[in-house]
Amino acid sequence: MSDFESRLSESRAFPPPESFARAARISSDGEYQRLHRLSLADPETYWAPIARELPWSKPFTEVLDWSGAPVARWFGDGELNASVACLDQHLDGPRRDKVAIHWQGEPGDRRSLTYAELSAEVNRLANALRARGVKRGDRVALYMPLVPELAAALLACARIGAAHSVVFGGFSAASLRERILDGGCTAVITADGGWRKGQVLPLKAVVDEALVGLHDVHTVLVLRRAGNEVAWSAPRDVWYHELVPSQSDACEPESMGAEDLLFLLYTSGSTGKPKGIVHTTGGYLVGAFHSMRTIFDLKEDDVYWCTADIGWITGHTYVVYGPLANGATVVLYEGAPNAPDEGRFWRIVEDYKVTIFYTAPTAIRTFMRWGDTWPKKSDLASLRLLGTVGEPINPEAWMWYREHIGQNRCPIVDTWWQTETGSAMIAPLPGVHATVPGSAMRPFFGVDAAIVDERGSEVGPNQGGFLVLRKPWPSMLRGIWGDMQRFQAGYWSRYPGMYFAGDGARRDEHGNYWILGRVDDVLNVSGHRLSTMEVESALVSHAAVVEAAVVARPDDVTGEAIVAFVTLGPGHEAGDTLTAALKAHVTREIGALARPAEIRFTQSLPKTRSGKIMRRLLRDVAAGRESTGDTSTLEDLSVLARLRKDEE
Ligand code: WT7
Repeated sequence: MSDFESRLSESRAFPPPESFARAARISSDGEYQRLHRLSLADPETYWAPIARELPWSKPFTEVLDWSGAPVARWFGDGELNASVACLDQHLDGPRRDKVAIHWQGEPGDRRSLTYAELSAEVNRLANALRARGVKRGDRVALYMPLVPELAAALLACARIGAAHSVVFGGFSAASLRERILDGGCTAVITADGGWRKGQVLPLKAVVDEALVGLHDVHTVLVLRRAGNEVAWSAPRDVWYHELVPSQSDACEPESMGAEDLLFLLYTSGSTGKPKGIVHTTGGYLVGAFHSMRTIFDLKEDDVYWCTADIGWITGHTYVVYGPLANGATVVLYEGAPNAPDEGRFWRIVEDYKVTIFYTAPTAIRTFMRWGDTWPKKSDLASLRLLGTVGEPINPEAWMWYREHIGQNRCPIVDTWWQTETGSAMIAPLPGVHATVPGSAMRPFFGVDAAIVDERGSEVGPNQGGFLVLRKPWPSMLRGIWGDMQRFQAGYWSRYPGMYFAGDGARRDEHGNYWILGRVDDVLNVSGHRLSTMEVESALVSHAAVVEAAVVARPDDVTGEAIVAFVTLGPGHEAGDTLTAALKAHVTREIGALARPAEIRFTQSLPKTRSGKIMRRLLRDVAAGRESTGDTSTLEDLSVLARLRKDEE
């Protein structure tokens, strides 16, 4: 609540520097408003010419078909190939020899690939996949470090009409297995290992563990990256360097229907099972392409660095598809921001003369903690625009970012969106809006955002409510893989006809949007989504645990931190040993990103008369608003619960 109030009183606003506004793609509020109105009133007129800028193998004649709501069809009778849009279309002109990817490995190795070189690699890899029997309509899991071959792998799958399902390298074998099984993947692309903070992450070993007994996966293609030893299972396993380089660098692309599956990307909802978000080809690309150039005011000579891993939607849309469809130069860095020291990111900015830098609030708060001497050691004069994404950014971090990274010169675009929305939905236009620290500002083109109360009626200015989107947009999800029932129930039934995002928000008297965080049981730790139930199921799968309840407490760096309340079975003793064991268990079950910051043992979980866990009470206890005293051993929350019972 205090955060909510402090944001209410935010009065600072920063208009773009005049030189930035003058050169911007969109530079007047009148133009933004006119185009925004058009995009809502007549989406066909707005989107058709933008979509026609992409290369279609078969032009579309229809723009939007919403008759099958909530499953939209965009450009439904058109055909195209995403890899052609990202690569081939650039090969006939000066972009052929323009750098597509500047890459640095954590140990300091570097490679730069031009569009021609990246295209050749994608074609060889696509041919290699075909040679292994991967075909149109298949699903391929990618479990890789942040190397150029990962970007190439997405595009190679797209080229042959196979959908990719990227699983972030920090997920455990159990999580990877669950995603491979759910998606019905028949091939996996991985690496021996990847570098993180001077250590090798043994990716291939995790894949081996994930695949035990899964005979539907016929191929594991292994990139040699870290040089660590790996176990080998022939004929399933094949080295990238033995298969790919000898392939032809020409590869006929599949002509894909605009509504054919481009990828699955798993994310957490409010239940234990992750959902495979379905994105299709045409609409997704149009959304990525257009939001990329508009929100980031992309120009031909920009050098653009989004620090997200390709394993998240941010990496799909704003590392791979959005920038490459625009022929941009992107920077890719494999490792940690403090390897070998806390100046790494800023040296990369200086080395490549990065002009646009996009990162997460949790990273910004980490940089703040490391201190402004680190960015001061590098020349950041090339930067002209900054972005943030993933969670609400506190005004203090926003101001630090503006001053110490943007040197009070760069506009900051705070972009609100989700795995489900495919591309940014609420964000300022950097040449137009005077940005306010902590606000994601305005709905993007085609986005009919509203804030509603419990009954679905719009609330007034500065009243908090639920964020909904009332009209279909091109890059919207088309469903949940294998579970259209959950798609309907989770997003479309709370307010019929409206997409329910799961976030709380408020719009101020100027029309600026403020995202207030999730209103469901979804946690946001360092910008990563996890469901409370997912972590709870991991905990109760440990022999000592009878019951678990997981809540978030605010954290200065990670935004939210996980606090788990657990009750133990007979014969198990609360204490540091079990705490460590349970944290390790969750890491093993889900991945390090889900590791609880704190485990608290309790005799019983506080429940309402009807048996619902009193999460609000637990959140208060976790945040230190209500004390029960000792937390290292058993506490008795039932006393607090009895005091509070009538409130729930
Ligand atoms: C959730 C989506 C798509 C980007 C990466 C996260 C939160 C995202 C913002 C922002 C406040 C934000 C929301 C959203 N979120 N961006 N700019 N301000 N909150 O994607 O894993 O699908 O998570 O992240 O709660 O619902 P994701």
